[in-house]
Amino acid sequence: MIKKGIILAGGKGTRMSPLTKAVNKQLLPIYDKPLIFYPLSVLMLAKIRDILIIVNKGQLNQYKKIIPNGNNLGIKITYLEQSYPKGLPDAFILGEKFIGKENVSLILGDNFFYGQSLTKQLEKNTKLKKGARIILHKVNKPELYGVAKINNKNKVLKIKEKPKKFLSDLAITGLYFFDNKVVRYAKELTPSKRDEIEIVDLINKYKKNKNLSADIIGRGGAWLDTGSIEDFYKTSAFVSAIENRQGFKIACLEEIALNNGWIKKPEIKNAINFYGNCDYSNYLKRISR
Ligand code: DAU
Repeated sequence: MIKKGIILAGGKGTRMSPLTKAVNKQLLPIYDKPLIFYPLSVLMLAKIRDILIIVNKGQLNQYKKIIPNGNNLGIKITYLEQSYPKGLPDAFILGEKFIGKENVSLILGDNFFYGQSLTKQLEKNTKLKKGARIILHKVNKPELYGVAKINNKNKVLKIKEKPKKFLSDLAITGLYFFDNKVVRYAKELTPSKRDEIEIVDLINKYKKNKNLSADIIGRGGAWLDTGSIEDFYKTSAFVSAIENRQGFKIACLEEIALNNGWIKKPEIKNAINFYGNCDYSNYLKRISR
């Protein structure tokens, strides 16, 4: 069982400047809540309660204002700062002490997942004991992502970061499951041409050792990434459409904690006081009646 998860929520956010000059990208709104709520909700749906959030140097206080610690959610949140964006596998080097001897999941702070069987799929993947598992989803523009070519048995044949020449339309989403070797493998990586250590190189180490597997989010599921301003608006429109149609909120952290049995109604009351008089609090009032 994977019981630990890391959210990598740093990065320069240069593509979204000037919005990100003063505020970290993951604290900007996706419709009615900060972006960070969405990847955090994914780990919580996976029943992961021990979570490390890695943020940019100097931005820790911003995060602590909105997610002080996990007490109100029945989870444990630890923060670490990344001095500069050295690459995604840096999460495992920085997180070595947090990971200890256990297996770990990583989610990128700007990734959004939604779909009916998502929770089941997450729980299936946290059962990983050995090796690495990547989660794939078909996209229209694979050249923007890491991609994986697989055979009809879901065996990964080849992976490549942002391929210029078509390799596959299956993007490697920003949600990964690793065994404990990930720390050692991450430390062995050398920076690429763009001077970052690359997640694809890390995954390739598992592939070489025949320890890589893949799971696919089918067309009934949505994976959106929020790399650009345009993506922020599109993802916000998606959340708004679903929430206003159904009356359920996506990524309401207190609701997930309540459903998981991690908190009780008094904690929801505290959350309502914390957030103040707003739509999110009105929703909390409704679900805790
Ligand atoms: O979103 C999925 C894609 O994420 C994968 O398909 C790619 O294989 C993977 O490399 C990654 O590509 P991106 O180009 O989207 O990565 P980006 O550099 O934008 O970083 C993703 C998030 O991680 C972003 O919110 C910033 C944060 N980050 C990134 C780096 C490199 C950090 O916190 N620290 C870092 O050192």
